[in-house]
Amino acid sequence: MKLTYRIFYCFIVLFISNLTKAQSGLVADKAMVVSAREEASKIGVAIIKKGGNAFDAMVATELALAVAYPFAGNIGGGGFMVYRKANGETGSLDYREKAPLSATKNMFLDKNGIIIPDKSTDSPLAIGVPGTIAGVFAVHEKMGSLPMSEIMKPVIELAEKGVIVTKKQEKSLNEYRESIIKANGKNTKFATVFKENDTIKYPALAETLKRIAQNGKEEFYTGETANTLIGYFKKIGAIITKEDLAQYEAKWRKTIEFGYKDLKIISMAPPSSGGICLAQIMKMIAPFDLATMGHNSPDAIQVIVEAERRAYADRSFFLGDPDFTKIPLKELIDDQYLRDRMSNFDFNKATLSSTVKAGTISINESKETTHYSIVDSFGNAVSATTTINAGYGSKYYCEELGFFLNNEMDDFSAKPGEPNMFGLIGNEANSIAPQKRMLSSMTPTIVEKNGKLFMVVGSPGGSTIITSVLQTILNVYEFRLGMQEAVNAPRFHHQWLPDLITFEPKAFDTKTLETLKSKSYLINEKTTPIIGKVDAVLVLPNGKLEGGADYRGDDKAVGF
Ligand code: GLY
Repeated sequence: MKLTYRIFYCFIVLFISNLTKAQSGLVADKAMVVSAREEASKIGVAIIKKGGNAFDAMVATELALAVAYPFAGNIGGGGFMVYRKANGETGSLDYREKAPLSATKNMFLDKNGIIIPDKSTDSPLAIGVPGTIAGVFAVHEKMGSLPMSEIMKPVIELAEKGVIVTKKQEKSLNEYRESIIKANGKNTKFATVFKENDTIKYPALAETLKRIAQNGKEEFYTGETANTLIGYFKKIGAIITKEDLAQYEAKWRKTIEFGYKDLKIISMAPPSSGGICLAQIMKMIAPFDLATMGHNSPDAIQVIVEAERRAYADRSFFLGDPDFTKIPLKELIDDQYLRDRMSNFDFNKATLSSTVKAGTISINESKETTHYSIVDSFGNAVSATTTINAGYGSKYYCEELGFFLNNEMDDFSAKPGEPNMFGLIGNEANSIAPQKRMLSSMTPTIVEKNGKLFMVVGSPGGSTIITSVLQTILNVYEFRLGMQEAVNAPRFHHQWLPDLITFEPKAFDTKTLETLKSKSYLINEKTTPIIGKVDAVLVLPNGKLEGGADYRGDDKAVGF
């Protein structure tokens, strides 16, 4: 691309960005937490200030999000965490929900084998066995340094003191109020009309957390809390039993690690598709000179879209829970295989998805979820993404215990081989089975440069998580944006099927879209949602940390 075009595109990006949000993120000397809510970031940082490490802060931030951000933060859901210790050791934890023991492959189908609308999202059967409490205790047991009671104290205080409603939260509670009432009745806590600046207190959740702090993870899986939860499940008609809770365990998994130029990317392995998809896309685009093409230029968009198309096609067919499905991991991220995948790409014309073969697809995650990134004063890094799937999960809210339950069962393919209720096609690798984990797109990621910690990054956004993480890394590394600028920059997304590029609203110029259309790219003109909500930390050349907190939410970087 000519220099004049590059300057033009940089100007457009900077101009649009300047209108709406800060360009430079918070810069801190030692430690930082970036999350969806200021309260959670503050609590995470306070734990580090007390001498705790990133793992203590992970526990505190995860639980504080369950209080401050019930939209996606949770103890009724699950997630994934990737870490890199100061000594370079890496690893990851899978605390994803599981299908109950009595789940069946066809549980969301009627007697004619047709998908029953909303059953996998809005019914008590949508609830998977929660993994979050097992997750935070596994992290603490292996790598924590402060006592659990000390870590959980500020979280319990927050639940008691209450959380101030933001403008965005007021809007989201308004949007979801009716469906929350439908699930729980008109006396539910969230039937109340909360306005901006109101304070919501969570006394029931505070009591639950107090018992967990005192009795450990057993409280949630076999103790009084488990008994109350089982009673609640029986009342609403959910199928999760005592055995389901008692048998739940978080799992340490080997990370997906790969090189991109002089970067090393460390990301999440299955049952998340995030790491493999990210590896496939980055390896497919590595031979192209994106920096010269220009940020969000038609050429760069083409290269990224074509790689995404091919990676998401593979995702659909090959990926599921590795404990149930044999995944050809080495082959999927093999350099030659990926060169071959891109060999029919032509700059003059889109490769239509109908000509890209890879079985079927199951991109049926919702747009919700939440991510946080942590770097502590010792140099340890944690990247964690956690979810109850849809906003406020299944909407089932256990008043007695004070939390929402997930609807993660919808991340399975309800009917392998045929379109699901969202018009997307499912597959066998991700079909429902007892105790199986549903496929995810969560992509908590850590990036090294020249062997040193470079970036901690992740996002919510269902199938758009992977492309949001990808573009944030490219924005910094290829297009030389700062961390906050990289998070602010407008994003686009392609996931093979439907064969459409979705662009964020009002962020891409008409000329770019027309150029792509002239090459047969199909543009999603109807739906232009925000794409992802990235929270990230960048290690600057002088060793300081720059936070990138997404202006698309109430996200906040806190550091010292
Ligand atoms: N429920 C969203 C995901 O796991 O990707």
